[in-house]
Amino acid sequence: MTILDDIKADHDEAKSLLKTILATEETAERAALFKEFRKKMTAHNRSEEKIFYRRLEATEAGRPRALEAEVEHEAADRLIDDLSRMRGKDSDKWTARCIVLRELLEHHIEEEESQVFAAARKLFDRPALDKMGEAFAAEKAKHGVPAGATVDE
Ligand SMILES: [Fe+2]
Repeated sequence: MTILDDIKADHDEAKSLLKTILATEETAERAALFKEFRKKMTAHNRSEEKIFYRRLEATEAGRPRALEAEVEHEAADRLIDDLSRMRGKDSDKWTARCIVLRELLEHHIEEEESQVFAAARKLFDRPALDKMGEAFAAEKAKHGVPAGATVDE
């Protein structure tokens, strides 16, 4: 699998987790699901920055895309931090912030899967993208998210 397939799979999982979180009314369950989301999203973002964006940044064509994507990661990190710290995961304010996070992620994912992926396909060949996929999985495992495993703590 190329790193692009891995990233796409993570995006699909993140979107569906967020959808479940917003549809869950029970506070403790919401909090537990959000904890899982945070762990997976953090592992995904840090690994993506290290393995994928850094290589894109080293190229003239990939650099602007990678820099923009990194700013979006920073904005998502901030919202995820706020949401983790806030009490009352069932409050209107928590829900509003979570909806903004979902909108930001949808925008980020949309751009990444179109423009960033297109740039990467031009810059790197299939073996290079496969190799990055392996490095991406290994990096995520370092963050406690091994491939194919479910997170429970
Ligand atoms: Fe990303």
